[in-house]
Amino acid sequence: MNHAAKTEMLAVNLAGIQMRTPIIGASGTFGNGEEYDDFVDWDYVGGISVKGLTVEPRNGNHGRRIAETPAGIMNCVGLQNPGIEVFVNEILPRIRVYKTPIIVNINGNTVEDYIKITEMLAGAEVAGIEVNISCPNTKHGCMAFGVNPGSAALVTREVRKRAKVPVIVKLSPNVTDIAEIAQAVEAAGADAVSLINTLLGMAIDTKTWKPVLGNLTGGLSGPAIKPVAVRMVWQVAQAVKIPVIGLGGISSALDAIEFFLAGASAVQVGTANFVNPKIMNEIACGLCSYLEEHDLQHYSQLVGKINVGGN
Ligand SMILES: Cc1cc2nc3c(=O)[nH]c(=O)nc-3n(C[C@H](O)[C@H](O)[C@H](O)COP(=O)(O)O)c2cc1C
Repeated sequence: MNHAAKTEMLAVNLAGIQMRTPIIGASGTFGNGEEYDDFVDWDYVGGISVKGLTVEPRNGNHGRRIAETPAGIMNCVGLQNPGIEVFVNEILPRIRVYKTPIIVNINGNTVEDYIKITEMLAGAEVAGIEVNISCPNTKHGCMAFGVNPGSAALVTREVRKRAKVPVIVKLSPNVTDIAEIAQAVEAAGADAVSLINTLLGMAIDTKTWKPVLGNLTGGLSGPAIKPVAVRMVWQVAQAVKIPVIGLGGISSALDAIEFFLAGASAVQVGTANFVNPKIMNEIACGLCSYLEEHDLQHYSQLVGKINVGGN
């Protein structure tokens, strides 16, 4: 299959963001894209969700920030980033050359922080805003907004009022009913939702009896969380009309296909980028082969097509 045939099978307009493929680099795992420039063919990268940004620069958490787990990792990076001004003035002009949509992952301790960062992005040439209300590794704000329908809706409404581009709200799996939160942010104006962020976890060193991570707890990601993510995407896709972006443990084309069948209109790839920096390209090409084998012309023919009858 040639290049043009592949991109024809994968192109999508997601909530107003025109993408060459439905495969996006997940925030915090794909840097600002530059780190992967030697490895990826940008034609197959649907978009980059850049590392989470805050109004002011942040150093992140002290101590150990990453620990391996069976089939995944736990991290407590704590939103280390150079601040929105440096991003807009220095980083954004450099990464625009990749000609792939740049989605800005925004974070805050307060609603005012989310408002300010959105206003600071008003003149920037970005494709979308991903509102992170689900980071489990900060002491204030962020995930606190995402675990309650009222506060999730409040942040969404304030960002949507000011944003010049589509607004994607990133949901936390650390809730009882994720569909309820998704419906609340949809009603508040979200153009799409992405899910899931990491699952709150902990590890203890049995030699020292101390927590392994500097922040005591951390967010679990990677293949270990995939079944939870697929289940949540399936629940949310049935509950809302806006597009759902699925992520959590995707490390192959077949993993991505599971998310499409569950109802995701696009996917993000996170931890798998650390294992194989070419993984997004491999997923895109694997997806095309699967479509060809199944006599399908476009990946959207998979979206929501889970067959729940006759198990
Ligand atoms: C080291 C690391 C840093 C992350 N930083 C962010 C972040 O800044 N903003 C965000 O919304 N999600 C962040 N995430 C969460 C991922 O974007 C993703 O939601 C999660 O890891 C699940 O996907 P995966 O299993 O494919 O990694 C981070 C994840 C990891 C592993």
